[in-house]
Amino acid sequence: LHNMDRGWLGTPIDELNRMPQCAPPLSHLKVVPNHTVTVRTDLLREGEVPVPYPSKFKDAWDDVSVKMPCSEKNLFPMETEPIPLLKSRMNHSLTLSQEQIACLLANAFFCTFPRRNSRKSEYCNYPEINFYRLFEGPSPRKIEKFKTLLCYFRRVTQTKPKGLVTFTRQSLNNPPNWESSQTQLTRLHITCEGTIEDDGYGMLQVDFANRLVGGGVTGHGLVQEEIRFLINPELIVSRLFTEALEYNECLIITGTEQYSKYSGYAESYKWKESHNDETPRDDWQRRCTEIVAIDALKFRHFLEQFLPEKMNRELNKAYCGFFRSNANRQHLSAVATGNWGCGAFGGDTRLKALIQLMAAAEAGRDVAYFTFGDAQLMRDVHEIHTFLTKREVTVGRLYSLLNQYSSVVCKNCRTTRPDVSLYSFIYEKVSSHPTSDIHASKDSGI
Ligand code: AR6
Repeated sequence: LHNMDRGWLGTPIDELNRMPQCAPPLSHLKVVPNHTVTVRTDLLREGEVPVPYPSKFKDAWDDVSVKMPCSEKNLFPMETEPIPLLKSRMNHSLTLSQEQIACLLANAFFCTFPRRNSRKSEYCNYPEINFYRLFEGPSPRKIEKFKTLLCYFRRVTQTKPKGLVTFTRQSLNNPPNWESSQTQLTRLHITCEGTIEDDGYGMLQVDFANRLVGGGVTGHGLVQEEIRFLINPELIVSRLFTEALEYNECLIITGTEQYSKYSGYAESYKWKESHNDETPRDDWQRRCTEIVAIDALKFRHFLEQFLPEKMNRELNKAYCGFFRSNANRQHLSAVATGNWGCGAFGGDTRLKALIQLMAAAEAGRDVAYFTFGDAQLMRDVHEIHTFLTKREVTVGRLYSLLNQYSSVVCKNCRTTRPDVSLYSFIYEKVSSHPTSDIHASKDSGI
């Protein structure tokens, strides 16, 4: 009970894995077919500004590269290899220096990226990069956004940042067979206090994304994703080259720095002050901050999200974000997440919490869950997690329970909300048929 006073339940947060402590050393940074690096990796040194590579800009005006504002006639020369577009179904990483990113973002601020000032162009399936919407119309929100962005530009022009940032598009080709999964849930720390970015440092931090990453950051939007992109503005450059995410894709961004502190949220958002990010850097000179953009589905009607194909989609999307190939699970950081898809996108927190717990378990990671002030949600999710763990309910069994809930309760429901809640349904089923999972032999209840 003493935990309740402290506003958290479950595993103490300090027992969960964080970077850099949890990971083995990185292999040497080098260019390979699926990794573009725009700096001299041989000259990379801690505390020194990375040297661009190639040293003379190589132009490309084609459909696999970003069309750059720097042509021969350019007034703002940038020594940058053409930046590959991270298109649908590509598994590709791109590592840029923070200095190069600053230069690209300055171009975005001045709206110089060609073919990017109208959505009706060849880039219609990409997020907007030029900041032209931020200059439109009077809006207190936009003033706070400018304060945050100008703080960043001031900082990077005063002192050149010295690190790198990697952007990885990950497509999941073989989703898990959820039905037959024998995986047990992993550990959960759940709290109604704090935020993903402050208290989830060193963990895999979830960006509650739009399929066009960054959502409304260069326009009117100002919720979780947009705020994160504003305080860590290097995230914004992903909009330059990341095509809309497909149902089985995510974008992983490693190494961005936080330049601002904020208060409030949405309408009440305010830039507070400059933030000095002291997150350690890895051997590739990236801040040990790993963020994953996963876009939930937007639901208009509550019952929609319980359709089996929708639940599948969300499970696979979360799994795509959490899964790392060739990773040993003891080296994986915990997932720092919260009410993914449950604000602007209208999802149910209790269903989404279970879905994320299942995906994290399958990917071999513990979870730190931030309920953003909701103490009842904290207690409910903790309680069901404890119950499921004690009874050794597998991910596969949980999956079949979700589908049963869908067909038994939701399908025949005539009202907008089901009369039996998901969690009471699960308690009831598991308590009355503790071994109905054909594989669950250990939990005989004797
Ligand atoms: N840490 C933990 N939890 C948070 C934080 C935080 N920093 N900020 C908000 N929450 P929302 P969505 C909680 O609406 O529903 C954007 O425009 C809080 O309870 O941002 O997935 C994107 O670009 C909040 O209600 O995510 C997409 O277009 C809940 O998380 C769209 O919104 C959900 O935050 C995604 O909407």
